[in-house]
Amino acid sequence: MTKSILVINGPNLNLLGTREPEIYGAETLGDIKDTMTEKAALLELSVDFRQSNMEGEIVTWIQEARGSFDAIVINAGAFTHTSVAIMDALLAVDIPTVEVHLSNIFKREEFRHHSYISAAAVGMITGFGANGYLMAVDAVKNMIK
Ligand code: DQA
Repeated sequence: MTKSILVINGPNLNLLGTREPEIYGAETLGDIKDTMTEKAALLELSVDFRQSNMEGEIVTWIQEARGSFDAIVINAGAFTHTSVAIMDALLAVDIPTVEVHLSNIFKREEFRHHSYISAAAVGMITGFGANGYLMAVDAVKNMIK
């Protein structure tokens, strides 16, 4: 049976492709959505791929995911480093979660070294660019089989 993944992208990730490409790469969020959806289909996984610049909307999506999704993949963008609310929502729904970052957050400014998401995630993929989203599909496949 096909299992489903909710993919959540946080603030400014809608600008991928033009946003600091030396850090985040040339691929757009649409490109990432397409390659991730294709790879997931090969592994009998479906993907609901979303982006929001609003913290509260992301919290609501996580709350609503209970009972509808088997796993969450989240790149919370800057909310990674600030959002107790997103961490609490993830802890509340208790859905296996993979944290993704395009850049290696530990190689960057000190304020990016701490992630609230990590406390609620099975693990983190950081620094592999857009490929990290494909790695997350493999991680989900292994986690929920
Ligand atoms: C990011 C890293 C965050 O520090 C930053 O605020 C982002 C993107 C990444 O994918 O590398 O918006 O999550």
